[in-house]
Amino acid sequence: MRSETAPAIRLEDYQPPAYRIDTVHLNVDLDPSATRVTATLKLRRQPETPAGSPLLLDGDELTLTEIRINGNPLAETAFKADAQQLEVSAPPAEPFDLTLVTEINPDANTKLMGLYRSSGTYCTQCEAEGFRRITYFLDRPDVLSVYTTRLEAPKKDCPVLLANGNLAETGELDDGRHFAVWHDPHPKPAYLFALVAGNLAEVSDSFTTASGKGVALNIYVEHGKEDRCGWAMDSLKRSMRWDEEVFGREYDLDVFNIVAVSDFNMGAMENKGLNIFNDKYVLADPETATDQDYANIEAVIAHEYFHNWTGNRITCRDWFQLCLKEGLTVFRDQEFSSDMRSRAVKRIADVRLLKSHQFPEDAGPLAHPVRPKIYHEINNFYTATVYEKGAEVVRMLKTLLGDEGFRAGLDLYFDRHDGEATTIEAFLASFEEAAGADLSQFALWYEQAGTPIVTAETEYDPDRKTFTLSLSQEIPPVPGQKTSRAAVIPLRFGLIGPNGEDLDVAAPEGAIVAGDVLILDKAHQDVTFENVAAPPVLSLLRGFSAPVRLNQHLEPRDLAFLAAQDKDPFNRWQAVQTLAMRDLVRMTHLCSQDQPATCSKDVIDVFAAILEDAALDDALRALALTLPSEADIAQEIGKDVDPDAIHAARSIMRRDIGSEHKTAFQRFATGFAPEGPFSPDAASAGKRALANRALSYFALPGDAAGQDTVWQRFTSADNMTDRLAALTLLVHDGAPQKDDALEAYRDRYKDNSLAMDKWFMTQATTPGPKAVDIVIALMGHPLYDATNPNRVRALLQSFATGNPTQFARADGAGFELVAESVLEIDKRNPQVASRLLTSFRSWRALDPQRSALAESALLRVSACEELSRDSRDIVDRTLQ
Ligand code: PHE
Ligand code: ZN
Repeated sequence: MRSETAPAIRLEDYQPPAYRIDTVHLNVDLDPSATRVTATLKLRRQPETPAGSPLLLDGDELTLTEIRINGNPLAETAFKADAQQLEVSAPPAEPFDLTLVTEINPDANTKLMGLYRSSGTYCTQCEAEGFRRITYFLDRPDVLSVYTTRLEAPKKDCPVLLANGNLAETGELDDGRHFAVWHDPHPKPAYLFALVAGNLAEVSDSFTTASGKGVALNIYVEHGKEDRCGWAMDSLKRSMRWDEEVFGREYDLDVFNIVAVSDFNMGAMENKGLNIFNDKYVLADPETATDQDYANIEAVIAHEYFHNWTGNRITCRDWFQLCLKEGLTVFRDQEFSSDMRSRAVKRIADVRLLKSHQFPEDAGPLAHPVRPKIYHEINNFYTATVYEKGAEVVRMLKTLLGDEGFRAGLDLYFDRHDGEATTIEAFLASFEEAAGADLSQFALWYEQAGTPIVTAETEYDPDRKTFTLSLSQEIPPVPGQKTSRAAVIPLRFGLIGPNGEDLDVAAPEGAIVAGDVLILDKAHQDVTFENVAAPPVLSLLRGFSAPVRLNQHLEPRDLAFLAAQDKDPFNRWQAVQTLAMRDLVRMTHLCSQDQPATCSKDVIDVFAAILEDAALDDALRALALTLPSEADIAQEIGKDVDPDAIHAARSIMRRDIGSEHKTAFQRFATGFAPEGPFSPDAASAGKRALANRALSYFALPGDAAGQDTVWQRFTSADNMTDRLAALTLLVHDGAPQKDDALEAYRDRYKDNSLAMDKWFMTQATTPGPKAVDIVIALMGHPLYDATNPNRVRALLQSFATGNPTQFARADGAGFELVAESVLEIDKRNPQVASRLLTSFRSWRALDPQRSALAESALLRVSACEELSRDSRDIVDRTLQ
């Protein structure tokens, strides 16, 4: 018998809690295998709850050893406790104290939810439902309590004892033990609880808030890693200042602590006053971190810090509202990075991520609305749709309301809901009221799954001097949603005249806001512009003003014009991508029929022009010179996907562009390094990105001289960005130096696990028929650790998502490898396993032979009797 699918939880069934918990006192007596947790909860029956109603508390793998009400032990007949639930049959009608003693085993906690140990350090992860693995509780985000946490441990093993809030007391105990008491005055849901205990190094700094309050800042890391915390600390201080300046939000405790751990299921966690991070988003130095790592650290530090207002002070009523905190906080961190770096480059990077991760999710069996209506396992809803599309929805709100209306709405939201657990409805109501807008139709963005397709057709009438734009929108059917309603789609646009300048067009009444934004809110809509002297080129969806697929036919010469002239940098980039994509699709079809294919001259010329356009930001040039990924091409093709043909077409395009402009690429590859000592700033990173991109066109597979240059770069690099770029080229292009390079890299970094993750990842993403064997061999490597999520992701997740030809190998070996691994990992860590399993989500788009093989691998996973609810949920939905 297969394991059961967990029961469905539905948004429409929401009921407020029957009891409130005003305060929580925790006493945690730490021990690696037998930690004793004494919890005293002040419970208060809600007026709507009849007196004497049973009290039901959530648990997960818990053992209860004591239970008292108002200090008196409870008779055995008065309660029922099992691993999953505690029921007190007739609790007092008046407020009462419930004391529970549970015993838990941190060392046996391989799920990394609740209290566990990472390299000897005790830490917790409670979002979404981990607190119930520490004590029985009303483990739901709308129960807000004030926490006091007392930790006790041997001082030698755990000199550092941390929990949420401010430090209230410390002291010595007998037998070399000590304790610390932390008090968090801000009521919070249990998912924001955290504790950390261990022998960690502390890196300290301070911050003075706008109103003059001092805040102690500390980053805790394993000893020896102190030197790699500088960038994270700097990012934290900049985040704190930025949130004051841009959103008027100040920090609200005496201390802000960050702890970096090496075993973590996700990126990081915003626990009140005690953020816990995957160390990959804290540690950086030039020797071990790429420019991308630096940018990620800056963004994730900011993201978690920004949650203090959007998530912690104002939290979610229930888990369906997850986007209330995540979409908004991603929007905020994107804005922060835009202000720290180049806005255009950041926008392009974010849209690339959206299109590569969220669009396929929204087009496949795992599609769901930004605010889902139903779930079986909440851990599976920390998705690109909730996060990235959720951020796009907030961005559209800003576009529609304008900067001032948006800020006024957000201020009202903060004022009105501070200290509450609330909903998307309340969020939107704040904007409606403050900005005087009607957002009822806009709210559909939270309700409907699927990416709208916007079709645009244009007609110029030379006699009447009018330019007519015919727009329509539709959402293709997705699981559980056959029909859809027209959304409100803000389309930023420009009509470009022959000289490259935007025309100052007279806008038709009503159809336009804020000068250059057109609002499409019907299924079909025509907009006619008058007094247009000559036929313009339409630049539509500037800045990617809405998360839609744009279906607009532009002639190659119009695309080339936009690529060279559009004043909107995003659409310049987009025009280059569109040109390349069209050609890649054409070439893919030829390759799949074993016919010769070559890149068209238009594309080659546009790439050469971009390379030489010194007026463009270097990072932007590097992005524009990056070909659409194999996954992007597969998405564009949509059905009967043949990954080998895609790979072949893309390789040919790279070769044709590179060989046509060899000397130019060589010049940039070798003569474009930033001057002076390494600096992670955006301008220097842009130079490195462009040089490394050029190197990939100069050093083509099979070109001995080119590959010598790459080897030189590899051995002489003074930073990880250049070293890793060179290593990746050597390995992926099968250069003669590849084994030497891998060995040299391993020798250099064998003691640095984050750097070794890159080594595993580079090999796992090697195209070509050896990849499956390489991955299998690496799973047996002494440095492979199947219990470390980062390492598993570096090897297996990157194989499944970053090696399309080999994951979808025509004999099914890639699918089998991933399915087997999912089953193995699932026994230990269901969250890591189910995330890996989502890499099958586009299986139906593959050609019939491959999709049949993918299906049989999925069925094998599904047949497993002991599958976790996490993986059961994903496999059920993927196969539906
Ligand atoms: N709330 C975290 C964030 O986005 C993500 C997270 C979710 C971490 C669940 C751990 C578990 O910032
Ligand atoms: Zn978040």
